[in-house]
Amino acid sequence: MSAHQEELERLLQTPVGQIAAERPAAVVVFREAGINFWTEGRRTLEAACAAQRLDPGKVVAQLERRERQTPSENPQYQRKPPAHLSDAELIRQIESGHHSFARIVLRRLEALAERLARRGLVAAEFPAEVELLSCRIEEHLVREETLLFPRILAGAPSLVTRRLCRELREEHHFLYAALEDLRRELAPQVSQDPNGTLFLHCLDEFLEDATVHFHLESNLLFARVERSTRASGTGF
Ligand SMILES: [Fe+2]
Ligand SMILES: [Fe+2]
Repeated sequence: MSAHQEELERLLQTPVGQIAAERPAAVVVFREAGINFWTEGRRTLEAACAAQRLDPGKVVAQLERRERQTPSENPQYQRKPPAHLSDAELIRQIESGHHSFARIVLRRLEALAERLARRGLVAAEFPAEVELLSCRIEEHLVREETLLFPRILAGAPSLVTRRLCRELREEHHFLYAALEDLRRELAPQVSQDPNGTLFLHCLDEFLEDATVHFHLESNLLFARVERSTRASGTGF
C-alpha cells in the first residue's frame, strides 16, 4: 500500500470533528459537501461520506486541493489548526471571534425583526420571540465567559467544569435547532421582501458561524475538559 493510500485509510477511520480540528480547510470542504462535523463530529469520515452518498476519495482530494492554495488565495485555510491551540488560545479565539460576532448579529436580527413587524410581514409578537431567543443565547455566552472558561483557565479539572460542559453542549443543540426552526418557519412569509431576505441572510451567517463556534467548544475544548477530569478521576 502506498503512503498516500495509507494516509487515505487513516483519514477514513478518523472522526470528522477531529479532522476539522486538525485541518482548518476541512471546515469549508465538509460544509460544501454537507458533512456535519459539529453535531456528528464523532462519526468517521467513511461513515459521514456514506451517509451523504459521497465518494470519500473525492472529499479527501478536495481537502488536499484546498490546503495547497496559497495564503493569499484563501487565508482562512492557512490558520493554525485549532487542535494545536492551547486552552487559553482557544478561549481567546472563541470569545474575540465567535462571541463578539454572535452579539453583533443578534442585535442586527432584533432590529430587523422590529422592522418586519412594523411592515406587517410577521406577527406583532415576532420581535419579542427573537429577543427572547437572543436572551437565551446571551445567557449561554455569559455562562461560558463567567463560569466555565475561568475554571478551565484555572487549570483544575472538577466535577463542576465537567457538568458545565455537559449542560452547555446540550444547549448548543437546543439553540441551533431553535434558530433552524425560526428560519424554516419564517422563510415562506418574508422571502419576497428585501428586509425579509436580509433577516434570513443574517440568520444564515449566524448559523454558519455557530457550526464552527459550537464545534470548537463541544468537540475540542469541552472534550479536553472531559478527558482531563476522567484522567484525574474526578469524572462521574
Ligand atoms: Fe461559546
Ligand atoms: Fe457554547
